[in-house]
Amino acid sequence: MSTETAQDDLRGYRGISREVLARDGIRVWSEVRAKTKQGQFEGLVLPRSETADELHIVLKLDSGYNIGLAADQIESLEEVGRREAQYKIPEKKFPYSAGKPRVKLFGTGGTIASRLDYRTGAVIPAFSPGELYGSVPELADICNLETEKLYGIFSENMGPEQWIGVAQACAAEIEKGIDGIVIGHGTDTMHHTAAALSFMLQNPPVPIVMVGSQRSSDRPSSDATLNLIHATYTAARSDIAEIVVCMFGPTSDDYGLLHRGTRVRKMHSSYRSTFRTIGDRPLATVEREKITILNPGYHQRCPRGESNLALNAAFDDRVSLVYYYPGMKPDVIESLVDNGYRGIVFAGTGLGHVNRAVYPAIEKAREAGVASYMTVQTIWGYTQMYVYETGREIMGLGVEPIANMLPEVAYVKLGWALGQTDDLGEIKKIMQTPINGDITEREPPDGYLVYQGGLPEIEEFMRRVHR
Ligand code: DGL
Repeated sequence: MSTETAQDDLRGYRGISREVLARDGIRVWSEVRAKTKQGQFEGLVLPRSETADELHIVLKLDSGYNIGLAADQIESLEEVGRREAQYKIPEKKFPYSAGKPRVKLFGTGGTIASRLDYRTGAVIPAFSPGELYGSVPELADICNLETEKLYGIFSENMGPEQWIGVAQACAAEIEKGIDGIVIGHGTDTMHHTAAALSFMLQNPPVPIVMVGSQRSSDRPSSDATLNLIHATYTAARSDIAEIVVCMFGPTSDDYGLLHRGTRVRKMHSSYRSTFRTIGDRPLATVEREKITILNPGYHQRCPRGESNLALNAAFDDRVSLVYYYPGMKPDVIESLVDNGYRGIVFAGTGLGHVNRAVYPAIEKAREAGVASYMTVQTIWGYTQMYVYETGREIMGLGVEPIANMLPEVAYVKLGWALGQTDDLGEIKKIMQTPINGDITEREPPDGYLVYQGGLPEIEEFMRRVHR
């Protein structure tokens, strides 16, 4: 029995790290002062993940960051307190107040719905939408919130099946007369889902707001709470009846930005201000309960009870996005054709180019009836395939330029178009007809990295220079 208790107290620790903890009478969840050969550290001893090495003891510092102390460098550990972390937040039923707008929060997973799992050391999807409310009670001041967990997955596992599921779930809520929808989603592929919903749910009568977080809610720097407040306020009160992404504007918590679902992209792997509107202005800023419109040409909320929503939840997944790189060989494209793919979106260099070596494969794709489109890997700007001989040659092989549609958006749109028809002419019409800003006539002069919350390092530098 006593061995078992000791086992629990040193959860996950083995070998030398276990010996050091036992030597100084320290248990998991002890607050310790550690004297090491590299200096002194204070923090909470966390359980060690089962798969981790036996050489380190993990401390959570007050800053929220976890560090690993090499056990053989520790001179002494002194217990200064105990603090068992509570990572399970109780589900709370949302209070109802007559007169407030009704908002539906759909959970799909991602960091916004995550907590740390100290058994494996990984971030796992574990917050249900009800738990989210338990941790962000401000949401009750904004609206009457109903929650439903559609999925509990990281967004790399979202795909056509889930896009269709989310679109259908939104349409069902709209049918029932909801005033706004929030979709909690992992950030990595939020822009793919935003694009899919922009095509599958056209003319929504109410805002459909996608939200995520870059830092999990166990960290003091988490953006989860503020993003959720901004998104819920936007869904409940804003006039923007579009599919939008709502995330931090600058890296600080000054304001959030609302980005149109077809023009948004995740642009930084770790900044909280990772989402950027590409080639246009973001639609608006949101500061808790204040929305400031930056881009007035948006689709407006319909009067209560009215809706022209067009649900078209189709997708053929035999479509691929090919990011061209110098030295690409034709077999990459040939294998798609041989495997029965029906659509290819190229992300070409510069104005929309690939090398001559792949021309025969592109020709083969055309002969097999594969629909091929060109976008640019510069991300900002338009395909312009009349400028160079290369562009004209590639168009001659049947690849259609697709203006300033973002590569991921073109991939989603092509799968959506192929899900509706086999007719290549019809597919071309669908691809080239602008939907919800996926193609715009021109990039406004301030559409390039402007109104984007600034570049944090430059702003910080300017602040120091002009102090
Ligand atoms: N893999 C990530 C995802 O679900 C987790 C991080 C996040 O939510 O941003 O997109």
